[in-house]
Amino acid sequence: MFLTIFTCFVLLLIICDYFYKTRRNAQFSAAGIVSPRPWPILGNVPHVFGNDTANVFSMLNRFKARWGKVWHMWFFFEDILFICDARHFESLLSSQELIKKDVIYDVLRYWLGDGLLLSTGGKWRARRKVITPTFHFKILEQFVEIFDQQSIVMVEKLKARADGKTAVDIFPVVGLAALDIISESAMGVKIDAQRNPRFPYAKALTDAADIIATRVMKPHQSYDLTFYLSAPRKALKLRKCIKIMHSFTDNVIEERRRTLERTIADGSYKAINLEMNDIGAKQRMAFLDVLLQSTVHGKPLSNSDIREEVDTFMFEGHDTTTSGISFTCYLIARHPAVQCKLFQEILDVLGKDKDRRVTMRELHALKYLECVIKEGLRLYPPVPIIGRITTREAMINGQIVPANCNLSVLIYAALRDPNYFVNPDDFVPERFDVESCAEIDPFAYVPFSAGPRNCIGQKFALLEMKSAISKLLRHYELLPLGESVRPIMNLVMRSATGVNVGLRPRVY
Ligand code: HEM
Repeated sequence: MFLTIFTCFVLLLIICDYFYKTRRNAQFSAAGIVSPRPWPILGNVPHVFGNDTANVFSMLNRFKARWGKVWHMWFFFEDILFICDARHFESLLSSQELIKKDVIYDVLRYWLGDGLLLSTGGKWRARRKVITPTFHFKILEQFVEIFDQQSIVMVEKLKARADGKTAVDIFPVVGLAALDIISESAMGVKIDAQRNPRFPYAKALTDAADIIATRVMKPHQSYDLTFYLSAPRKALKLRKCIKIMHSFTDNVIEERRRTLERTIADGSYKAINLEMNDIGAKQRMAFLDVLLQSTVHGKPLSNSDIREEVDTFMFEGHDTTTSGISFTCYLIARHPAVQCKLFQEILDVLGKDKDRRVTMRELHALKYLECVIKEGLRLYPPVPIIGRITTREAMINGQIVPANCNLSVLIYAALRDPNYFVNPDDFVPERFDVESCAEIDPFAYVPFSAGPRNCIGQKFALLEMKSAISKLLRHYELLPLGESVRPIMNLVMRSATGVNVGLRPRVY
């Protein structure tokens, strides 16, 4: 009896699934978009079976070569429209309607809640308005000192391996520096991860990011239930890491709020002392302090509102810059002429004293370094893919896309599209010179996305990258040592072989 009911249920599911997918595929076909034939229930999962983070780019490139710059696939009952075309990017990213993130982002929700990255609709609009002033240049200017100090620690940490012949995977080294930078900038707390990588918050954050990164690439772990069933130890570890991080941020927020309230009560509000437990360097407004003093519709943000945003900054502002700095250093190491020109610019702008602190004005004056970083982000974009979902039928670049369709924006593909970049695989920073830059299509070059949901932290990121790379180059010559990179998609762009360079101390 049970078997009969079960068989009928499965048959009914297969029939409904067949008609649903066939009807929807016909809609895409009418819009001129290819949908490879789906399997019952599984959809196109067999097409991606056996692939993982290490070859996701080559797999997607194969699909693109076969089906064009826009194609459509099924993963069980969800469908995804893959988009590599800058014209589609323009239509999609500049839309005020298409702002909802797709289902893949749900794996971050337990950690980041409804922070700026994941929220949508009115909540996102209100938060974006409140958070935008947080990145005012006056606030950013105070962080230049943090970038400088933490880059000095990074240079120190690399000293023992800077013998001109050892290959160093700089990704983890830069990662700890970036974590120190974002903790101090976002929360006003020095966690000193570079000297103490096992500090519980630092360890929890790196472990959580690793677990989520591998989970994202496994379609059968998309749902919480299937994740718990198929990888229970990882799932529990992730939960534990997130608890550690939440409790850490909660404590910091409570402490900073108490400090703020105390200064308001005793009338010293203007002279607010933002020192934390004697570990801050001097009075400085962290992102968190700005948020504590912000209001939405006249009401201050609650501690849990602020926690979502601080956690989001910690997540978005750590691995991304790590990836950007590491891959750019890798490219510099392998292009001696670029390195030579860059070092000359550094000498011209910053002078010969390699320990002197840099200012925001000097970082702005490093124009060639900016071109080098932009070209690094083009070849190895830290965020190679982003996603959206249609909440109702939408018109994207003249093609009708039905409601509830996930949209996968393949940023990395557009960044190497020969229609927009001559010799797209070559490292040519000069394409970002003032004169040549005007010819670059703004929707083909979107490492920070574009439109209303672009990266709010991009100015912070560029300053941090300039500071860290210039500091490294003032102390070391970067050498082309170690294995070449093999890019993998692991939440951010990483390399399966590490991001290797050699380092030789500079004497001048
Ligand atoms: C090289 C470094 C970085 C790159 C390449 C980068 C790239 C991006 C991209 C592509 C998006 C769009 C994501 C999407 O649509 O799903 C984004 C959003 C965002 N980024 Fe960044 N990012 C970087 C650094 C940072 C930093 C340092 C911060 C914070 C301090 C930050 C904070 C954010 C936030 C909060 C969002 C969500 C904005 C919104 O939806 O309104 N990012 N970033």
